[in-house]
Amino acid sequence: TRVLDLPAAGLVLLVGVSGAGKSTFAARHFRPTQVVSSDRCRAMVSDDENDQSATADAFELLHSVVDRRLRRGLLTVVDATNLHPHPRQELRRIAKKHCLPTAAVVLDLPADLIRERTRNRSDRVIDDDVTARQLHDLRRALRQLDQEKYRALHVLRTPEEVDAAVVRLVP
Ligand code: CTP
Ligand code: MG
Repeated sequence: TRVLDLPAAGLVLLVGVSGAGKSTFAARHFRPTQVVSSDRCRAMVSDDENDQSATADAFELLHSVVDRRLRRGLLTVVDATNLHPHPRQELRRIAKKHCLPTAAVVLDLPADLIRERTRNRSDRVIDDDVTARQLHDLRRALRQLDQEKYRALHVLRTPEEVDAAVVRLVP
């Protein structure tokens, strides 16, 4: 097993390309109410998890839920790609406002595995060029994450590491 220490009261950012297994990881390790998903927020405001025109509204909703949960001191896990610095900064700012820490769990799986999973998905169609761009964005995000000073930064690089992961909530 690989123990991932995460703050019991605070913000956890999942980071990874589409198909990396963020939603699967979230469902395995956290209660459904602890997970705030950008795709679910998009669906709530547009009836369509894939409607990119709803992104701005979806993120306003996501930030609002994160803000209200953290105000209550509740563990809050953001299930979104979190590949870009500004949205990450915005989320960390909300946690900081409530004097709570932010941690990150990065699912950095081999590109071949991501492409295979993505092509086999029944719930969503993702173009290969979108995956390629996201994989590129993840390389950059990994360098940035190192500088961003998280309470904990866990990077899982193989399916075996992901399977062996156990979350330990630290008070
Ligand atoms: N999957 C898998 N084995 C895992 C994790 C995921 O085979 N250990 C498969 C899932 O069944 C799914 C696909 O990979 O078909 C993507 O997993 P998902 O958790 O949905 O990935 P996300 O990172 O949440 O993708 P998105 O950003 O598109 O929501
Ligand atoms: Mg998902």
